[in-house]
Amino acid sequence: MKILVTGGMGYIGSHTCVELLNDGYEIVVIDDFSNSKPEVEDKIKTITGKDFKFYEGDIKNRKLLNKIFEENKIDAVMHFAGYKAVGESVKKPLMYYDNNLNTTLTLLDVMKEHGCNKFIFSSSATVYGKPHTLPILEDFPLSTTNPYGTTKLMIEMILKDLFIADNDLNITILRYFNPIGAHESGLIGENPNDIPNNLMPYIVKVATGEYECLSVFGNDYDTHDGTGVRDYIHVVDLAKGHIKALENMNGLKYYNLGTGNGFSVLDLVNTFEKVNNVKVNYKIAPRREGDIDACYADASLAKKELGWETTKTIEDMCKDAYNFVIKNK
Ligand SMILES: NC(=O)c1ccc[n+]([C@@H]2O[C@H](COP(=O)([O-])OP(=O)(O)OC[C@H]3O[C@@H](n4cnc5c(N)ncnc54)[C@H](O)[C@@H]3O)[C@@H](O)[C@H]2O)c1
Repeated sequence: MKILVTGGMGYIGSHTCVELLNDGYEIVVIDDFSNSKPEVEDKIKTITGKDFKFYEGDIKNRKLLNKIFEENKIDAVMHFAGYKAVGESVKKPLMYYDNNLNTTLTLLDVMKEHGCNKFIFSSSATVYGKPHTLPILEDFPLSTTNPYGTTKLMIEMILKDLFIADNDLNITILRYFNPIGAHESGLIGENPNDIPNNLMPYIVKVATGEYECLSVFGNDYDTHDGTGVRDYIHVVDLAKGHIKALENMNGLKYYNLGTGNGFSVLDLVNTFEKVNNVKVNYKIAPRREGDIDACYADASLAKKELGWETTKTIEDMCKDAYNFVIKNK
């Protein structure tokens, strides 16, 4: 079975490429390196000992996509490519709508032309907005608080309409919670081209001395220590969730991919310090607009229907994230 992985040089895509190759799938990858580095291609090959075809370019380029589908018999698509920085999306909404929506529309259209009917989409827990209760179930009401989240919700709506029009499609929408950590080899991990937006890459940069201090946004939330609680999931567990999703496609499906456990910002900082024996300087800063107290998944549907469960601990996540940065300094 041949899978087209869009954005396969990025953080989650690269780990999923590794799991796909390890499980015997053939992959074809497209990426424009807008948020990743070319050396990831060789690193995936080193980890797996397997080869794959790579195309450099923009998914909005229909000509290139047609070429990929003509040169390869693609059975399914995993669509990771997109921009993901919430703050940037507030400042540059058109850039986000253009890239996230137009990549997906072009891709779906070209898939249809070539008779490919399996699509796995990287959505996000951000589509739940401010949940009224916890843990979050897949049928909770959806809403968004920023343009990035709106692109994810709009794509979910497009996919639903597409499925209504064409029941032969198999579409799986995976709503990720907070992926962190790295491959245990230390060869691939989260390596954003810009200043990191997410907590873990920031913690790591403070631990290595690149940044002086971590700003913890708010310590008066309604949580056990006042700092925001999130559902952190090891990126390798997340990648494995995609294989399970691929093996169990059946119509239009939605799954939460999270651990079901909530950890606060300070839980994460303390665990990181303990397992890596380093200091992470932090200061309390005002709340950020749009942040919510707590967010964690009910992941029982993915367990029941996909047979998927996370296996890695918060300690593994902290250890692997640091190991990746130390090895690649
Ligand atoms: N990392 C998270 O916290 C998180 C959480 C929920 C959902 N997601 C979603 O998962 C997906 C993957 O996230 P990630 O963390 O691996 O992001 P990432 O930025 O590391 O990877 C995305 C990859 O897509 C590529 N890309 C972007 N636009 C492209 C285009 N037009 N053509 C070709 N390549 C393009 C980038 O160069 C990058 O390699 C994204 O859609 C993201 O929104 C991520």
